[in-house]
Amino acid sequence: MSASLNRCVKLLASTLLPLTLVSTALAQKPLQTLLVGVDHRTVTSLNGPWHYLVDQSPGRALYNDKGEINDNSYALNTHPNIVGPHNLEYDFATAPTLNVPGDWNTQDPKLFNYEGVLWYQRDFDFQPKAGTRTFLHIGAANYRSHVWVNGKRICDHEGGYTPFDCEATTVLHPGSNFVVVAVDATRLVDGIPSVGIDWMNYGGITRDVSLITVPRAFIDDYDVHLEHGATWQAGNITLTGYVHVLDAPAGTAVTVSIPEAGVKTTLKTDAEGNAPFTVKAARLSLWSPETPKLYKVELASGEDKLTDDIGFRDIRVDGTRILLNGKAIFLQGANMHAEAPVRSGRAITDQDVATIYSYLKEMNANFVRLCHYPHDERMTRASDKNGTMVWSEIPNWQHISFQKPEVYAKDVFMLKEMIRRDRNKASVILWSVSNETPNNPTRTKFLTDLANEARSLDPTRPITSAIIGPKIIDHKMDGNDPLTAALDVVGQNEYIGWYEMTPEDADLIQWSFPNKPVIMSEFGAEAKQGNHGANNQRWTEEQQVYVIEHQFTMMKKIPQLRGMTPWVLMDFRSPTRNIPKLQDGFNRKGLIAEDGKKKAAFTLFQKTYKDHSVGKAE
Ligand code: GCU
Repeated sequence: MSASLNRCVKLLASTLLPLTLVSTALAQKPLQTLLVGVDHRTVTSLNGPWHYLVDQSPGRALYNDKGEINDNSYALNTHPNIVGPHNLEYDFATAPTLNVPGDWNTQDPKLFNYEGVLWYQRDFDFQPKAGTRTFLHIGAANYRSHVWVNGKRICDHEGGYTPFDCEATTVLHPGSNFVVVAVDATRLVDGIPSVGIDWMNYGGITRDVSLITVPRAFIDDYDVHLEHGATWQAGNITLTGYVHVLDAPAGTAVTVSIPEAGVKTTLKTDAEGNAPFTVKAARLSLWSPETPKLYKVELASGEDKLTDDIGFRDIRVDGTRILLNGKAIFLQGANMHAEAPVRSGRAITDQDVATIYSYLKEMNANFVRLCHYPHDERMTRASDKNGTMVWSEIPNWQHISFQKPEVYAKDVFMLKEMIRRDRNKASVILWSVSNETPNNPTRTKFLTDLANEARSLDPTRPITSAIIGPKIIDHKMDGNDPLTAALDVVGQNEYIGWYEMTPEDADLIQWSFPNKPVIMSEFGAEAKQGNHGANNQRWTEEQQVYVIEHQFTMMKKIPQLRGMTPWVLMDFRSPTRNIPKLQDGFNRKGLIAEDGKKKAAFTLFQKTYKDHSVGKAE
């Protein structure tokens, strides 16, 4: 952290003004402790009721008067019941509980609009095993987290939508232990996303928590994929990738087996614990939406073994086409926030996921843009199983502090977390590095570098971003956004007929894009479900359909249109949407209302996608 920034944070924290703290770039634990395949390991779940205590924003118990993390307040979980310094008057044992995982906003009406610090605590029994290590895994906690076990801080994390693992080996003891987690949902000017977002900043431990015990040297990362550019068309199927064994000496044996594909290979780790491999598969059916075939991939090294379910497919750009397994495809789907159908709140249960995919299937979708951040891993697992292709994105949403190197470092970290968790998910076909960011040289360099970072992390998937603009003058685009030069697939957002111009204007617009595939990544209009009227009457279902139909007319004239995702599958909570009786805190561009009732626009997409009447694969 730069000295000036440090001073700034200290000043703010010492005054403890309820301001959005300038980012305190946390000392992020090194990424190598991010375990891949956690949902396929035998874990001890810590899901369930946790005691909680509300702090403030900034937290009086979390930050000391110098703005640093206070390890000597609630983290110690003592039961003082004494009158004393402000941050020693607490008692978790008699405090109320919240369910983990779950946002706090929809669990307690008093917390609905709360965006500050909240402390969680629970006890758990544990019996350490000799020769093993144990990590505390948190699927996501929004936005900054600090984790103590038995009063010792074991990690800090920034980012509300990606998993992290905290090694607890040395602080655990036999019998009863306790964990305390402070989650600070305060939005930060230098956060990712920053402060001005168009969605609900649900706070809390919003995804699964578990304890994972592994051998001293264990498989923490792996990548098993169809060799990019392979000659698989001729049935000569080559798989490639690596297995990483953490803290293993060079020469450690690793085996990769895929019995159903006739694959078994034994490898040796290098000095960094990496065991790269390339192996032929005797037989293998490729993953696709029509045949979402997954294989049991067995990885083993020493005493560690785990089995993942992995699909194999090839995704690439060829001129203005997107090829899946060598065949041109058209991506027809919808955008969606991680909002739980009907109950709202963060979507986290198997039921939430099943409902969401039932909507997508009903509308004949083969694609979903999980905006604007990585969703619960259940979503990408379900996509692998049901064949829905995925656009996955980190929340560089609109105004990010692109001028700050520490923000770039945080972005790279978050990108690595997203790619690491889902790189073995065949359904994820695009990594997106941003959404609707302002077109200026600082941002273009930042995102170009980030796109190249994504390519170096994962050369097997195209990189995209959703762009807003450029200006449209006399129904023509005024040039191209320079960021498109850094993308393999261009995402274009537009709201012609809703935010600007008239629906009829859309018929006249001529888009001009670089010679790349284009996905109309956002378009649509708002309507309150059940509100009916003329097609020029805003907020009616009829007008929403009318706007979209004219946008379709426009889209049909884009020769390299290779995908479309209307904004948005379901109405979602957004505190900035405050037109009484029409929005009431919801963004109403959904095809489905938050209570699951479908709007006329849903039927329009259902038919359009069935008939494939907009856009062509080539
Ligand atoms: C933008 C943005 C969305 C937002 C939408 C809207 O395109 O990407 O996050 O919700 O427009 O204004 O409804």
